[in-house]
Amino acid sequence: MPNLVVVGTQWGDEGKGKIIDILAEKADYIVRYQGGNNAGHTVVINNKEFVLHLIPSGILRKGKKCVIGNGVVIDPKALIDEINDLRDKGIAVTPENLFVSKGAHVIFPYHKLSERIREEESIGRIGTTQRGIGPCYVNKAGRMGIRMVDLLYPEVLSFKLQRNLEEVNLILDKIYGKKGFEFEPLFKEFLHYGEILRPFIMDTTSLLNQAIKEKKNILFEGAQGTMLDMDHGTYPYVTSSHPTAGGACVGSGVGPTHIHRVVGVMKAYTTRVGEGPFPTEIKGELADILRNAGPIGEYGRSTGRPRRCGWLDLAMIKKSILVNGIDNLVLTRLDILGMLERIKVCISYRWRGKEVDIFPEEYQIWKEAEPVYEEMKGWRCDISKVRKFEDLPKEAQEYVRRVEEITETKISLISVGPSREEIIFKDDSLKEWNLI
Ligand code: IMP
Repeated sequence: MPNLVVVGTQWGDEGKGKIIDILAEKADYIVRYQGGNNAGHTVVINNKEFVLHLIPSGILRKGKKCVIGNGVVIDPKALIDEINDLRDKGIAVTPENLFVSKGAHVIFPYHKLSERIREEESIGRIGTTQRGIGPCYVNKAGRMGIRMVDLLYPEVLSFKLQRNLEEVNLILDKIYGKKGFEFEPLFKEFLHYGEILRPFIMDTTSLLNQAIKEKKNILFEGAQGTMLDMDHGTYPYVTSSHPTAGGACVGSGVGPTHIHRVVGVMKAYTTRVGEGPFPTEIKGELADILRNAGPIGEYGRSTGRPRRCGWLDLAMIKKSILVNGIDNLVLTRLDILGMLERIKVCISYRWRGKEVDIFPEEYQIWKEAEPVYEEMKGWRCDISKVRKFEDLPKEAQEYVRRVEEITETKISLISVGPSREEIIFKDDSLKEWNLI
């Protein structure tokens, strides 16, 4: 099996968790490389639902090694809770199958507070998950971050935390008129987390590069989606990391020559949580139908917020294919469209008299552009039991083929329901690459 990155092609929530779970069968290592517990990956196995926020979905399969790479930001309490929760559900999580990078940065309560204040009290709300992700990455870039390894050395933690609190408390007091944080309780709390997590914390870059030497297979699990990427997404309405395929190298310490394939996951329509432009957004009753359809509705898995819904935007998918170097696509939630009479697909935009056929960079165009739609007939039936492409209603087959035509990219897998089995293997390339 080649080393593979799985990325989201939209604004996250494309259903990557299930696809990673399927592809993990052939992988030896499954690696998260960016983001934090802002993600929520859902996997349903034998009617049991698992929602993973930080730990790679591969943990649900026996014998797989799961890595939380240096590019991830970790709320240690959230990680400990997730480990315990999985153990309660009968999943083994041990230092033999979970490895946490020494270099991953730690989210502190002051990150969450400063995010809450900015989101609530200042202009330019992003609609974040309020998990402290952005401020933690800000500290990382500002060279005042605290890393997982620092939790293992009291004198280092003490020095860095005191230094940070001096600045944090000054800002809280002088700018926001808020009470600051006391050093001692925070220091003790995070040292304690370090002790609990000590067996898992290690040099994951060496681990992965050794695995490469031994010809093991690595699956990189992207979180969020391309349009939330700090550089390639709808900036500033993005997350503060790089969910794109390139982020896998930086966020894991594996060089680009060791990554062989990229698979992009796209939902059959579009959703977004939080603020920001959304050219194909639908409002009203139709949006409610999409939001509440199927066994798992469109509500954030981390925050419970209702997701904004809209038509599939292929100008966006084309951009994702470019910036990630996507080889093949996976189409998810095709079953949900089964309840619609007519289905629209955006193929380009019209803006100030011009045709724009790839997702643009400018806020002005996102706001003003009119999507150019192709309208197709719906299939109006339940396809969740279908397991072969040829058995799909002809309208559904046409929908899939049209997406392939416009994006000039093959769709290899089609998901028709939340559980592992509800999948159609459409194209042989994943088999040829020994991925399934
Ligand atoms: P943050 O990542 O919490 O800073 O949030 C920044 C933006 O990314 C907000 O619009 C969030 O709703 C969005 N976001 C972050 N994580 C996810 C995710 O896993 N799925 C969908 N949207 C996300």
